Formats: sequence, structure tokens, C-alpha cells
Amino acid sequence: MAIERTFSIIKPDAVAKNVIGEIVSRFEKNGLRVVASKMQQLSQEQAEGFYAEHKERGFFKDLVSFMTSGPVIVQVLEGENAVLKNRELMGATNPKEAAPGTIRADFAVSIDENAVHGSDAPESAAREIAYFFSADELCDRIR
Ligand code: PPS
Repeated sequence: MAIERTFSIIKPDAVAKNVIGEIVSRFEKNGLRVVASKMQQLSQEQAEGFYAEHKERGFFKDLVSFMTSGPVIVQVLEGENAVLKNRELMGATNPKEAAPGTIRADFAVSIDENAVHGSDAPESAAREIAYFFSADELCDRIR
């Protein structure tokens, strides 16, 4: 299985709940390694650009407002099958539908404020990583 990278955000609700460490620990215990990480207050422009594919959807304004409501942790995770592995650990977008033991089942309360974001494909991962990180902020593969 190839080593892959994915992009992750710990969203403002999870940062406010002080569960950054618990979430990162789930990644680490499941074979994903943090190779870049920073805490950041997103600007409106940054959030709108990141979620541009959803701009026609009814929740877009609320999503941007939520994502700029407090600091987030943006990070790059590396590991075997990292994109899919991260999505499995996160659980369904709507925490009410998320499998027990997933991050969203345990730390999120609603679809609007659902604790984490994870890339849905290797192509989006590459685009999202480049949106937040310059090449010199990414560690080489750590062995
Ligand atoms: S969906 O429902 O399958 O279209 O969801 P998805 O395409 O995976 O991602 C939608 C992102 O918007 C956030 N969001 C909402 N989605 C659906 N409904 C409502 N009301 C809503 N509010 C916010 C959702 O959390 C997804 O964000 P990310 O950061 O990509 O996980």
C-alpha cells in the first residue's frame, strides 16, 4: 500500500472543546503521522476560497461564519491509505449518522459544527495542502 498524504482541519468547535490532543491521538494510534500542523484564525476570504465548491449551497454562509468563528488547526497527515483512513476515523459528515467511536460521533453535535474536515480524494488532498502550506512547511517523509 502506498504512503499517501491527506489534509485535515480540526474545526473551531473541537478547538473550543479543548480536544485537539484527543483527536490527534486518534490519528496517531491509527497509523497516521502529523507532518505539518499550525493553528490559524481563518479570514473570510480564506474560508470562502477553501469551500468555494459549496458556494451555491444554502449552508455556505453559515459554514464560512462557523469556520471563521475561532481558531482551527490545519494539518497534513501521512500514512498508508491516508485519505480513506482519515475519512473512516472522522465518520459521516452528519454526526448523528457517524459510526460509534468515530471522531464526529464522539466530539461533534451537529452537521453544521462537526469537529473535523478531511480531504475526500488524493487530488483534493493535494489541492487543499497547497492552499494552506508552502513546500518548506512540509516535512520530508519521517521514518
Ligand atoms: S454532503 O452533505 O455530502 O454534501 O457533505 P460534503 O460534500 O461531504 O461536505 C459539505 C461540507 O459542508 C459542511 N456543512 C454542511 N454540509 C451539509 N449540510 C449542512 N447543513 C452543512 N453545514 C456545514 C460539512 O461539514 C462539510 O464540511 P467539510 O469541512 O468539507 O467536512
